[in-house]
Amino acid sequence: MQLFLRKNAKLKRLPDYIIVEGPLAGGHLGFGMDWAKFDLQPIVEEVYQYLKSEQLDIPLIAAGGIFTGGDAVAFLEAGVAAVQVATRFTATRECGLPPDVQQEYFKASERDIEVNTISPTGYPMRMLKNSPAIGDGIRPNCEAYGYLLDGAGHCAYITAYNLALGPHANAKKKAKHLSVMDKTCLCTHMRNFNCWTCGHYTYRLKDTTRRLDDGSYQVLSAEHVFRDYQFSTGQNILLPD
Ligand SMILES: Cc1cc2nc3c(=O)[nH]c(=O)nc-3n(C[C@H](O)[C@H](O)[C@H](O)COP(=O)(O)O)c2cc1C
Repeated sequence: MQLFLRKNAKLKRLPDYIIVEGPLAGGHLGFGMDWAKFDLQPIVEEVYQYLKSEQLDIPLIAAGGIFTGGDAVAFLEAGVAAVQVATRFTATRECGLPPDVQQEYFKASERDIEVNTISPTGYPMRMLKNSPAIGDGIRPNCEAYGYLLDGAGHCAYITAYNLALGPHANAKKKAKHLSVMDKTCLCTHMRNFNCWTCGHYTYRLKDTTRRLDDGSYQVLSAEHVFRDYQFSTGQNILLPD
């Protein structure tokens, strides 16, 4: 963003919109491990004021931790054109997450969520601490996926795996139970729904639904969540029937 907003920069074309994603967003963060020092609202305000002062008519979209209709209204009143939300929709039938993983999201408390550095992309990543992907020393699966390989065929997970393999390189049996803590084989674990990336407020999902007789949480419809964002007032959240 800095690049195209640099003062006096000659732009061929203005961007259609700008999304400002804050530190409470899901998955990979555009912040360092000091993400907790930052807050979405003042960042959005600064960008909004800058666009206004430069008379740049570019819709601004705020994202990250906008959990209720009231949160959304506050940003819209502060001038953004739209909000982008995700966490609330992870607990819906239309979301591609397997039902057992959705229950893990519902069950999570705040202390069950962490931002760590195991993504081979190099960006900090937020996830549930009980993700099967954490510490799993699976053999790199780049033949099948390999989305993260760089031009020279490297991925930070391969390096971490080889380091952990070290003395077991020729002892396949022992290597089977290898633990790699430093990085994760992101492609494989994402593909298998074993890397439970999530938003900061995932621990509040349980407050958006009802507990069923068998102890599980009721999965919502996307329409229900959408309507709640549109029509709820203040910090209220509409529970399902
Ligand atoms: C489970 C999950 C994983 C996500 N992973 C990524 C990601 O890897 N990279 C990214 O830029 N945004 C990711 N997002 C962020 C969304 O694009 C979105 O902007 C953000 O989560 C909105 O905040 P909210 O989830 O608090 O509503 C993810 C969101 C969720 C819910």
